[in-house]
Amino acid sequence: MKIKVALMGLVASLSFSSVAVAEDAEAMMQAAGKDIFTKCSACHSLDTSKNAFGPSLIGVVGREAASLPRFAYSDALRNSGITWTEENLRQWIAGNDQFVPGTRMRHVEITDKAEQDYLIAYLKTL
Ligand code: HEC
Repeated sequence: MKIKVALMGLVASLSFSSVAVAEDAEAMMQAAGKDIFTKCSACHSLDTSKNAFGPSLIGVVGREAASLPRFAYSDALRNSGITWTEENLRQWIAGNDQFVPGTRMRHVEITDKAEQDYLIAYLKTL
């Protein structure tokens, strides 16, 4: 639904300027990503003061894996040596338990490249 509204905005702005289009495209991706994030928010709270079932994802892009002090990460993630670059996040959401075997996070599988782009665009806003 939100995606549809954002897309309509994008189409509408095409007639104006390319700058507006670029900004709208980014906003559209973030809005679409926010919708996809409903698959994650049951476990990942956006409240920085608490870790839910999963660790907080505020500021996760660029962060070292398993680096929040008060969260009980799996040894697998702790020892992974990963930094959450866009590419690593892409692999994680495409199949986290293949990317980091032994992780405690339940299997997620978002293989659609566009959906991955949207979700990562949204994560960057956190
Ligand atoms: C069923 C609960 C659950 C769901 C749903 C879930 N996660 Fe997780 N997530 C976890 C847990 C638990 C961990 C810690 C994993 C570990 O220690 O091995 C984690 C870890 C992560 C990390 C690593 C964070 C860090 O500090 O290193 C990222 C990134 C992440 N999840 C993203 C996502 C995204 C994006 C989604 C939605 C597509 C999602 N998760 C859905 C429970 C969940």
